[in-house]
Amino acid sequence: MSTTETWISSLRYKGDHLLLLDQQQLPHHTVYINVTTIEQVWECIKKLQVRGAPAIGIAAAFGIVLWAKANQSLPYDEFKSELLQQKNYLAGSRPTAVNLFWALDRVTGVAIQAGDTEEAVQLIEQEALLIQQEDEEICRKIGVYALTLLKNGDRLMTHCNAGGIATARYGTALAPMYLAKEKGWNLSVFANETRPVFQGARLTAWELQQAGIDVTLITDNMAAHTLKTKNIAAVIVGCDRIAANGDTANKIGTFGLALQAKALGIPFYVASPLSTIDLNTPAGEDIPIEERPAEEVTHFQGTPIAPEGIKVFNPSFDVTPHEYITAIITEEGIASGNYKEQLKEFFNTKK
Ligand code: MRU
Repeated sequence: MSTTETWISSLRYKGDHLLLLDQQQLPHHTVYINVTTIEQVWECIKKLQVRGAPAIGIAAAFGIVLWAKANQSLPYDEFKSELLQQKNYLAGSRPTAVNLFWALDRVTGVAIQAGDTEEAVQLIEQEALLIQQEDEEICRKIGVYALTLLKNGDRLMTHCNAGGIATARYGTALAPMYLAKEKGWNLSVFANETRPVFQGARLTAWELQQAGIDVTLITDNMAAHTLKTKNIAAVIVGCDRIAANGDTANKIGTFGLALQAKALGIPFYVASPLSTIDLNTPAGEDIPIEERPAEEVTHFQGTPIAPEGIKVFNPSFDVTPHEYITAIITEEGIASGNYKEQLKEFFNTKK
């Protein structure tokens, strides 16, 4: 596909369809899926073809746009009640990343304030585009704040993929790595492979390598040894939902990494847009944790690696209690310590 963009985006809106980067085919194939219906968006989210909290939210917002455009002949009352059903339908695709519900609230919220269906469709489209545009700006700001905690030459560790393809651009945890590169710093990164779906190996290692950033891939069980022996300055990860008290849900394995970092005295940073902070969820135990199909654990690329019929537990996320988090880096600043107060303050002072 021809493009004038020099970076690979997770999603491009084309008016009557979406081009969604199929993240399941990375790193070997850079394929964009031509998406024309809300059902296809649901399926792409469910199957992790689009994944990462902000990108899920953006895809869902455009899913509503596609539905709205296909239904612009409906009388306004009917349009509004159908719209809420479509919102609930997309909200059922994945349970943990709060950006999904946040983005759906935004695009449906503007539609309800319209005068008629035509205006509602226009407002929905504008809002989805705004969410995407804002996310790029937000990720850049997160990168700028994150860099204040780092210095040239630092070695970092990350888990899963909180990069450009998990957002509109730059990523959250990976944003400082891109910005460091822009200013001529040499940061190097250890990327954990991130079993069972390998977002670290397939996506983070690929993204950073493409960008010319020094990246080394390790398996998840090498993390403690690497932290201890490779002079790692900090661990930095993204997140799917931060509760009001700072407890953070992110890809399974994150909590273990936080424990290791704490034991070794290494700072553990969480990079998060405010859209991933859910003040309505009081604490970590209130965050719904998605459990995914057993085949993700029992099979590798279609080949069985475990005995047939084995029992499997496959939680997709875990919760890191706030006391293991050195700082939460947002587009509004860096919180550390009293998360309950500081996170609330970011929403109050938000520009
Ligand atoms: O299951 P995934 O791949 O959607 O999980 C993604 C993560 O856990 C990311 O770290 C998180 O969404 C942050 S993306 C900026």
